[in-house]
Amino acid sequence: MNTTLPDMLPDTQMGHAAAAAVLRSGGLVAFPTETVYGLGADACDDHAVARIFEAKGRPSFNPLIVHFADLDMLKQHVHWTPEAELLAQTYWPGPLTLVLRKQGDSPISPLVSAGLDTIAVRLPVHASARAVLRAFGGGVAAPSANRSGQISPTLARHVADSLGARVAAILDGGPCKVGVESTIVGLTDKPVLLRPGGITEQELAQTLGRHLAVRHKAEAISAPGQLMSHYAPTALVRLNATEWEPGDLRLGFGDVDCDLNLSEAEDLVEAAAHLFDYLHRLDAMAGGTIAVSPIPHEGLGIAINDRLSRAAAPREG
Ligand code: TXA
Ligand code: MG
Repeated sequence: MNTTLPDMLPDTQMGHAAAAAVLRSGGLVAFPTETVYGLGADACDDHAVARIFEAKGRPSFNPLIVHFADLDMLKQHVHWTPEAELLAQTYWPGPLTLVLRKQGDSPISPLVSAGLDTIAVRLPVHASARAVLRAFGGGVAAPSANRSGQISPTLARHVADSLGARVAAILDGGPCKVGVESTIVGLTDKPVLLRPGGITEQELAQTLGRHLAVRHKAEAISAPGQLMSHYAPTALVRLNATEWEPGDLRLGFGDVDCDLNLSEAEDLVEAAAHLFDYLHRLDAMAGGTIAVSPIPHEGLGIAINDRLSRAAAPREG
């Protein structure tokens, strides 16, 4: 790890070109997507990909998502299927990740898939992400740009605070609009929802004309979001708080008296966009437990509750 601070790159053509140059040289660059900030590396460069695991302190059995700007380029690396085509036509570019079988001759580093014969791919819609990906001209492996297990970043500052000099440069593109990570759908067999996210299960089922199996938390880990303690602040987290206790750091939803309100109007889209930033902010106020109002378990609320339940889960060590 170098000891200097990361370069903050402006969200301009020059910034995008500088980010692509870092990727080409085998370095790590964080960039915004519509969901959260990603920690990018050239997906075909073993050393660069290994640096992602090192910088995040991420277990190497936890595979990465590869991002593309161009659908035709993406398709060269996977076994494309009719259901993939249907979902891609409907939701790409956007906050959806597909897990597909990897083409045998794909040059993507085997480290990306952590030994699996599948690969997670996504075509983000965020203009800056697309500009960096286009300037680079290939697949970019990018997990969320935070230390493993901690709160995901939705601002450039969150990345700098969590990773510091472990990342060479950060492209500052402002806050992420969706605020929770992409929905992950496995398409290697029957469609299965591996991680709830910005696109809901109901929307996907409607597009596919069939129900999706939902990977239950207790089953074998095949998506990192499956790790029980994840997205965790330093403070303890108490869910479904309908009454506050003395010293609580109060994260509200709806018409309640609190320190930070995810959405007074009970708008789940607004709540998702605020979620990680507000967890970061409350966590920075020392002491106390982060107590969170109940969030309706429907639509985007399912992804929000998924992240919150992991943030509140018992931690190792
Ligand atoms: O919104 C997002 O998806 C963000 C932005 C940066 O694109 N990225 C993100 O990456 O959330 P990460 O590494 O934090 O989460 C990637 C998830 C993990 O849960 C991992 O287990 C799953 O994708 N995954 C990756 N490859 C997989 C594969 N081949 N099979 C099953 N799950 C896979
Ligand atoms: Mg993550």
